Amino acid sequence: MKVLIVGSGGREHAIAWSVAKSDKVDKIYCAPGNAGIAEYAECVNIGAMEFDKLVQFAKEKEIDLTVIGMDDPLVAGIVDAFEKEGLRVFGPNKAAAILEGSKAFSKDLMKKYNIPTAGYENFDSAEDALAYLETAKFPIVLKADGLALGKGVLICNTLEEAKDGVKSIMLDKKFGTAGNTMVIEEFMTGREVSVLSFVDGKTIKTMTSAQDHKRAKDGDEGLNTGGMGTFSPSPFYTKEVEEFCEKYVYQATVDAMKEEGREFKGIIFFGLMLTEDGPKVLEYNARFGDPETQVVLPRMKTDIIDVFEACIDGTLDKIELEFEDNAAVCVVLASDGYPLSYEKGFEITGLEEFKNHDGYYCFHAGTKWEDGKIVTNGGRVLGVTAKGTNLKEARANAYKATEWIQFANKYKRNDIGKAIDEA
Ligand code: AMP
Ligand code: GLY
Repeated sequence: MKVLIVGSGGREHAIAWSVAKSDKVDKIYCAPGNAGIAEYAECVNIGAMEFDKLVQFAKEKEIDLTVIGMDDPLVAGIVDAFEKEGLRVFGPNKAAAILEGSKAFSKDLMKKYNIPTAGYENFDSAEDALAYLETAKFPIVLKADGLALGKGVLICNTLEEAKDGVKSIMLDKKFGTAGNTMVIEEFMTGREVSVLSFVDGKTIKTMTSAQDHKRAKDGDEGLNTGGMGTFSPSPFYTKEVEEFCEKYVYQATVDAMKEEGREFKGIIFFGLMLTEDGPKVLEYNARFGDPETQVVLPRMKTDIIDVFEACIDGTLDKIELEFEDNAAVCVVLASDGYPLSYEKGFEITGLEEFKNHDGYYCFHAGTKWEDGKIVTNGGRVLGVTAKGTNLKEARANAYKATEWIQFANKYKRNDIGKAIDEA
């Protein structure tokens, strides 16, 4: 079969690698892709938001299955555009992708269906939000309602900070229309865990757990980023936590969406906080996590095409989702200066080392071919993943592999997986 993957990051590289393993697949295309994805897929120069062109391409090439990696096109209705033309596509339609597209929607959903989450209020006027803050407890969390590249969350320690936050989100429109509505939410403390899952509208099958590191610098300092590294599984995601979430979170979310007439097919990513009062949902995403995918998919044993097809056909209950009993760690190699300003266009060397080592992967995020060389082309450049029999071994392997790669202004965190030592 022929598969088209939409996206261009490390997540899509990991998806392409996983799809390429399936013996059902003859040909992979990726729009727009990157230099690493080009190893498995023919990259086509169509943007993820160019729905008409993508649909036309899928028809022309007789694509059997399209997989959407990114959130923006999902929230904007790319799945509806494909389905309208009778094309098979993996991902939630627009009505369902609102689970990620509107934080106010997702908070109201959780409240209505008693899914544990932080206490909150939604606002669509800055005046009301500012008035609410006067009697609030601090720290407090402000969230722009819509998609904001993962940057629309502000944790405010004082009333002054929170007032400035409301102004920047709702009046100065720092995150554009994403800030027309906002959520003000209780601050929670605890360990964070990411759980990705496959959903077919009624059945949900969770994947192995993972943990991300969102801040740019060691010790969780510095600015929020798209993610600087991950490990899987999370030692804090115990059997007890899993059982709680199975009872109160996972199936409850899928049933709630169905009940609302927004049947969800695709990936639900549960961002969980393990608080003293039990696990609570921090956020939902309607797609694979980045860089969680880079540690989860290399450990998946089940053929991903079978799972995608079962989600579309509503037969996920027939699939046995299996993961290896080992661990993986991903360390992101970034351009120094990310997430603010950084230079691009530097030659990357050492990539061929990964071909000689089983259980080591170099997923490209921001790279491209230029004059016969692979060069840096983004803030997050590569995700270096390694497996090990346990987390400590995987971490040592991943850090060893980061040394194989060289490029000017290479930057990484040195404490990815430090929490493993506290488990
Ligand atoms: P989100 O995009 O909702 O996942 O938020 C981004 C990050 O902000 C999360 O990964 C948490 O680290 C933090 N965060 C979000 N909501 C809360 C909250 N209610 N309490 C504490 N931290 C939060
Ligand atoms: N790693 C967090 C995300 O994909 O949103």
